[in-house]
Amino acid sequence: MAVDDGKLHEFVNKALGDIAGTLTAGLVVVGERLGLYRALAAGGPMTPAELAKRTGTVERYVREWLAAQAAAEYIAYDAASGRYHLPPEQAVALTDDASPFCVLGGFIAMTSALGVAPKLVDRFRTGKGIGWDEHEAGLFEGTERFFRAGYTAFLVNAWIPALEGVEEKLQRGARVADVGCGHGASTIVMAKAFPRSTFIGFDYHGPSIEVARHRATEAGVADRVTFERAAAKEFPGTGYDVVAFFDCLHDMGDPVGAARHVRAALAADGTWLLVEPFANDRVEDNLNPVGRLFYSASTFVCTPASLAQEVGLALGAQAGETRLRDVLTQAGFTRVRRAAETPFNLVLDVRP
Ligand SMILES: C[S@@+](CC[C@H](N)C(=O)[O-])C[C@H]1O[C@@H](n2cnc3c(N)ncnc32)[C@H](O)[C@@H]1O
Repeated sequence: MAVDDGKLHEFVNKALGDIAGTLTAGLVVVGERLGLYRALAAGGPMTPAELAKRTGTVERYVREWLAAQAAAEYIAYDAASGRYHLPPEQAVALTDDASPFCVLGGFIAMTSALGVAPKLVDRFRTGKGIGWDEHEAGLFEGTERFFRAGYTAFLVNAWIPALEGVEEKLQRGARVADVGCGHGASTIVMAKAFPRSTFIGFDYHGPSIEVARHRATEAGVADRVTFERAAAKEFPGTGYDVVAFFDCLHDMGDPVGAARHVRAALAADGTWLLVEPFANDRVEDNLNPVGRLFYSASTFVCTPASLAQEVGLALGAQAGETRLRDVLTQAGFTRVRRAAETPFNLVLDVRP
């Protein structure tokens, strides 16, 4: 087929943007680790020398970083004064961890995930998996930071009220298991909002459980929140009023087995709050920026994580509601309702 020159140029420009974007992602992490964004946000317009002095860094490196960031439109440059500044919108996205618009965690998580690229090439040939535990710690920290702001914004204000009768139960005092809890961001958000309820977070990844315990102490909720290492098919306890899974069912090797275990662990009138990445059912309906992010993260992290476990169903991060319903029905759940959604999350109210 003949090559269309215009289309070739258009595609190569896009690809060059992506190559530059890969490097920008790495430089965002450098800026975050060194406090460069925070110093700019606090101090206003600065020359490279001024920013270097404030942050205890070397001017030559900072000068190059600032120019790269200005070319990427992450930082603004005023040629007349030779000073750089962080526009207020970028300051939110690059310094305010509490904002749902903060993107730092995403950069930290995904640049860390890139570290498995050589292994992943091998796994494409063998079909074996890459466990969550085989990644760099930045993936765990970045996931926590990227998701926590969304949980803070939506979990208590929108998702829980959208579940039938759950908010009242939590207010009165309920027992909640948060499975695949990672660093416990969601567990702690719920515990702060519902002081009469008790929460237990489970994850099969020991180091994440250690961090979660530390976070509960820091947040002053350790009296009502505990964290234990356990796989989703084996977590202890029965009669839970609520079992919650946040963005982890699709990472599991045997989601049907995990769902069966949830069914057995729930009280007869209990609720499974199942939060999964937003996705439409058909690939063609996910070919957009959110789908690009999730399919890519899924190739690096979620799909290999599932393939590293028993069964290895590998739902992927873009399974969509129909496929999820199929898993839940196989496990014996009869009532599944989409309670809420955001551009990034599907929130299902699942009952025995
Ligand atoms: C994308 S992270 C989400 C973490 C946390 N729920 C959050 O929203 O921040 C997926 C989590 O699932 C956990 N996980 C994966 N397979 C698991 C299994 N079979 N049993 C328990 N946890 C599992 C991982 O260790 C990881 O912490």
